[in-house]
Order: sequence, then C-alpha cells, then structure tokens
Amino acid sequence: MKPTTIILAAGAGTRMKSSVPKVLHKLMGKPLIAHVVDAAHAFGSSKCIVVLGKHTQAAKDILGTNQITYALQEKQDGTAGALRAALPALRGFNGDVLILSGDTPLVTPELLKKFLKQHKQNKKDLSVMTFNAEPPHAYGRIIRESGKIARIVEDKDASPEEKQINEVNSGIYLMKSSVLKLLRNISLNKAKGEYYLTDIVAIALKKGLKAGAHMLGSETELTGINTRAELQRATLFMRYRITADLMQQGVTFIDASSVFISSEAKIGQDTIIYPNVHIEGKTIIGKGCTIYPNSRIADSRLADGVIIKDSTLIESSEIKQGAAVGPFAHLRPGSVIGESAKIGNFVEIKKSVVGKGSKASHLTYIGDAVIGKDVNIGAGTITCNYDGKNKFRTEIQDNVFIGSDTQLVAPVKVGRRAYVGAGSTITHDVPADALAVSRTPQKNISGWVKKRAPKTEKKGK
Ligand code: UD1
Ligand code: CA
Repeated sequence: MKPTTIILAAGAGTRMKSSVPKVLHKLMGKPLIAHVVDAAHAFGSSKCIVVLGKHTQAAKDILGTNQITYALQEKQDGTAGALRAALPALRGFNGDVLILSGDTPLVTPELLKKFLKQHKQNKKDLSVMTFNAEPPHAYGRIIRESGKIARIVEDKDASPEEKQINEVNSGIYLMKSSVLKLLRNISLNKAKGEYYLTDIVAIALKKGLKAGAHMLGSETELTGINTRAELQRATLFMRYRITADLMQQGVTFIDASSVFISSEAKIGQDTIIYPNVHIEGKTIIGKGCTIYPNSRIADSRLADGVIIKDSTLIESSEIKQGAAVGPFAHLRPGSVIGESAKIGNFVEIKKSVVGKGSKASHLTYIGDAVIGKDVNIGAGTITCNYDGKNKFRTEIQDNVFIGSDTQLVAPVKVGRRAYVGAGSTITHDVPADALAVSRTPQKNISGWVKKRAPKTEKKGK
C-alpha cells in the first residue's frame, strides 16, 4: 500500500516577519506549500493530509480540495503537535506515513521514492531523511552512536561539539502508523514551549523500535525556509535546477542567472532566451522562438518561431507561429495573435483576435476586437470600446487598411478591403470595398501669417 503523506504547514512562520503565512510565500511564483503538495502527488500517496493553522482558508483557496484532506492545528505548539493534529484524518490507516514540511519546497518525487525504498529495504519502523549541510545553519543535528542514529538535537539545544555536526535533519520522515502513538510520550521543550517531533527518534529507540537515518539528497533539494534570506537561497537553487533542465532539453540562455522561469513552464528546442526574462505560470513556448530582454510572459502559449522583442508584457494570451510582438508591447488577457502577424512598439491589445499576417506596428490600442487577415492598422489607431458602462466590439475584416490616427467607436464593423482615411473617427459601419473619411476637410487661409505677424510683434514691444 502506498504511504499516506502528512504535510506540516501550520507554523506561524514568525521568522519571515510577514503578515502572510510562511507556507504561502512564493518560490518562483508558486506558494511553498503548493510545491510540496505537487511533490507528494507526483510521489504517489494514498492520501495527502495538510495540517494548517491560522489563515487556513487562504491556503485552501490556493490548494483546492482535489486529493487533499485538511487538518487543523488549533495551537501552534510545535511539529509534534502538528502531527498529532493530523491523527483524526489518519484513523483506520495501517501502513507507512510520510511526513513532509510545508517549508521544504525543493524536495523531488524521485528523492521521496529513494527514501521509501531505503526505509523498506532496511525494514525500519521509523526513518529520517538527512543531508550534509555546510555550514549546518540552524538545522537539527543527527547524533549517531556507533554509526547509528541515536537522537536529533535542535540547534538551540546543541552543545558546542554537537553544533559542529554537518549531518542534519531534513524534516522528512517515514514511519509506520503504529509509531505515531509515541507522540503522546513527547514532552514539552521548556526553552521553546513546543513539542518537538524530532524527539520521537530517541523515544522509538528506547522502546526497542528500529530507527534509521538515511543521508539522501543535498541542500539544493532539502533546504528549509524560515527566513526571507533562505527563501532567496531556495530561489537560486530552484532557478538553477529549472534552467539546467531546459538547457538539457535544447534551450539557449544568454544569461541563465538572470531569468526567472516557472517550474510549470515548457520551452521548445532552439528557443533563445535573453537576460532578465520572466516566464510565469503554465506558459508554453514552442521551438525556435526568441525572447529578447526584459519581457514577462505569464500563462500564455507561444507557437514555434515566435519573436518577442524587448520589454514586452504578455498575459494569458496566445501567439501563433512566426508572429512578432514588441518592443514595448502589452498583450492583455484573452488576446490571440495570428500566424506571422506583427505587433509593434507601444501597442496594447486586450481580449482581441488579430488575424494571420495583420500588422499593428505603432502606438495603438485594440480592445474587444476581431481583426481579420492581412489587415494594416496605422499608427495611433484606437478602438473606443468603452462608454463608461459597457464594452463594445469592433470588427475589422480581411485586407482592410486603417489609416493612422483613427478612432473606431464600437460597436462598429469595417468590411473587407475597405480603407479608412487617416485621422478619421468612425462611428458607423464601413461597407466592404469603401473608403471612409470622417475628418473635416482641410481649409487653407492664404496670407494668414502675414496678417497675424504685425499684431504679434506689437504685443512683443
Ligand atoms: C525543523 C526540525 C529540524 C529540521 C528542520 C528542517 C523540529 C523540532 N525541528 O526545524 O530538526 O532540521 O525542521 O527544515 O521539528 N509546523 C506546524 N506547527 C507548529 C510548528 C511547525 O505545522 O506548531 C510546521 C511548519 O509550518 C513547518 C514545519 O512544521 O512547515 C517545520 O517547522 P519549523 O518551525 O520550520 O521547524 P524548524 O525550526 O525549521
Ligand atoms: Ca523550517
């Protein structure tokens, strides 16, 4: 039977100095607890119990109820108290229990599988995953006697000699469910006013149970986050892991140390990522794309051969094959840019479809519009989609030419092949093949400068 996983995530996280609970702080755009839950699911638990304290609702809103059972630790009285709070949700289960910390987000399913294998092979009642930390920071130290684990001592309680030990507790344990009854025997650590789960090791050994410490993984997988500085360290580890994986898959980085790429993003072969690019959420980027510097792409889908020029923001949008967007462009949610289309400098697009081969190269706002194929949108075009209360739709059909500085007051439709003269305000539909011009005819007043000139000179005297 697969183990049941319990994730301890009820701690106050005071060392973060934050109004946000520690496990909801984000690592590469995803809350710490969500990283741990995802690792537990990928590892394959029979049940996943998350222990929460205050701010329970905020965590539930993020994680949802899918495959998660929640337990509440009313009083934050330590890691043993947190585990005790999970016991009602475990009732009737007889098997191995995997215990994870909500603040150890770099753990991988592969590492957990290795741990389970060792725990089973060595027929242990209780196993602790340990790693070598240099320096050992404030992790609990593993005290071995004749090579075997005897107990875990917390940094605060460690003697100067014990503090020298580099083998530390990852906070990840596997134990038979029957071992959990020993939680009752853990006494209060008076110095900290908490019940330490780590004490269970010495208690189990005293009862004649078999405990093992398995040195697996490294700090890059097991680092715990208590402070903002540790969050930053974990970010560096995760960023390195993500970019190394992507390079392995054929992605080029001009400077991998300056990019931020979500662990859920996918990037195709021969795509080149320039410095200071942020790729967030479940973004998918195709093959042979180029993403120039200072761009942020969130929850979007880019097909093959797309070019994103410098300083462009793309949110929840889709860009089809061979299209180019930017520099300094903004695709707001719900935009679809067609094949080989071009969106240029200072162009904002919202909830609109731009057809294949169409261009909006300069200083334009397109909102709630459907634009056909091979349309040319001149510089400074604006779809006036909002009357202060409601949003209206603009439709521009295939092969239309919109002259510069045009306002299209929606709802409005421009038929196929039609032209709109520069500087027009279009308030009525334009039929196919027509030319629409709405500006006032130009009037030249001859000699106006000479007539005006003496007056101005007089004023100046
Ligand atoms: C703990 C271990 C330490 C280990 C380290 C690994 C103890 C006593 N110490 O220390 O040996 O090296 O993790 O990172 O267990 N939590 C609760 N309820 C509480 C207190 C904590 O749910 O009342 C949760 C926290 O949200 C956190 C986890 O338990 O996810 C660990 O607690 P934390 O206070 O961070 O323990 P550390 O001091 O890091
Ligand atoms: Ca911790």
